[in-house]
Amino acid sequence: MSMTLRRLTRAATAGLVAAAALTAAAHSAEAADTLGSAAAGQGRYFGTAVAANHLGEADYTATLDREFSSVTPENEMKWDATEPSRGTFTFGSADRIVDHAQSQGMDVRGHTLVWHSQLPSWVGSLGASDLRTAMNAHINGLMGHYKGEIHSWDVVNEAFQDGGSGARRSSPFQDKLGNGFIEEAFRTARAADPAAKLCYNDYNTDGVNAKSNAVYDMVEDFKSRGVPIDCVGFQSHFNSNSPVPSDYRQNLQRFADLGVDVQITELDIEGSGSAQAADYTKVVEACLAVSRCTGMTVWGVTDKYSWRSGGTPLLFDGNYQEKPAHDAVLSALGGSGDPGDPGDPGDGTLSCTATYTRTADWSSGYNGQVTITAGDEPISSWTTTVTLPAQQSVSSLWNGTPTRSGNVMTVRPSWNGTLAAGASTSFGFTVAKNGSDAAPAVGTCTAS
Ligand code: XIL
Repeated sequence: MSMTLRRLTRAATAGLVAAAALTAAAHSAEAADTLGSAAAGQGRYFGTAVAANHLGEADYTATLDREFSSVTPENEMKWDATEPSRGTFTFGSADRIVDHAQSQGMDVRGHTLVWHSQLPSWVGSLGASDLRTAMNAHINGLMGHYKGEIHSWDVVNEAFQDGGSGARRSSPFQDKLGNGFIEEAFRTARAADPAAKLCYNDYNTDGVNAKSNAVYDMVEDFKSRGVPIDCVGFQSHFNSNSPVPSDYRQNLQRFADLGVDVQITELDIEGSGSAQAADYTKVVEACLAVSRCTGMTVWGVTDKYSWRSGGTPLLFDGNYQEKPAHDAVLSALGGSGDPGDPGDPGDGTLSCTATYTRTADWSSGYNGQVTITAGDEPISSWTTTVTLPAQQSVSSLWNGTPTRSGNVMTVRPSWNGTLAAGASTSFGFTVAKNGSDAAPAVGTCTAS
């Protein structure tokens, strides 16, 4: 399909989409038992980053569609994905996300137009004048294709350095075009889609510090000179090295006081249990306390696909079960999780997880152990798989019943199928290495 035709098609469906969004909002206002509907009750959106390649997974899409009112393509609108060679635009993956969001009445955040990362190498090799032309053409290409369909665009992402200097980060744009590239990008963006809110987005700017001061000064300067900017995005990737700042609300408020909206754009907080839940509560409360904080986006649906999956930083676990952090966010948004909702404790959804450890090791073999933990419902049986590297073979297995097919063992309980909610059991096995010391792969746990 030619780009012009695609653009017409996208614009023609926009009216229908707006109607669907209104229906969704009206419907959800009554229930307020999902993140999106509870946030709507507070006049905010609640979004998530989405990856096009997971949309075919039923549980992923069901959770996305049920809980969220806005989506941000996690990678699909970045420069390397959309203009891999100069002047050739590829929108397939991003279109899939936008089409899906529209079919569900969700809004779309555009991420991101001008960024030093995930940039195809051809951009870095251009001279200044060519680079300026290419930057503006990229903004026009993206924003033109999605004209009228994006509620906010991250026009420029991460243009400031970390640390105390408040300086601009080195990038092809900064190095060849100077400080003025940001302003130019915003002016081009305003003309390309006047309906979209134009945001500057960054990380480590969540509290008051030298970096956020530098962004603050830029926004103040833009407002005083009439450079078009509507919003500032705070990525909010938190962990023990970078905790939720105590002056988070105050920092959001000072930006809002400059006359821009603020948005939490990529929220994730590494951790688990009640400590993680308490940190999520702080973030939601900070946004709700600032009237110009128009919405929050978490950086993914499920821990298993998080860019920081090892830190389990999201609201749904790898089995799409709601974590304590989810319930804390929902309640901070004024919603209520009724038992009976999919994913809630008491809803009858049985689940389990399987985790592997090597418990003994010698030159010709090792012992492995798989711990099975029930989700938030009691279960009476479980099944998982253990796939061994080709050379290896299992000589014995205890506290489980294996069925073998080639290198794959399917393991069911022996005496230990019944588990209370959250309770664990484990099975063990001895493996002959036969020259391979690699670890086996443990599959998804299924409960009944
Ligand atoms: C990350 C994605 O989550 C990863 O899948 C990708 O490999 C790298 O980028 N700041 C941003 C996001 O603005 O675009 C980044 O997303 C995370 C940090």
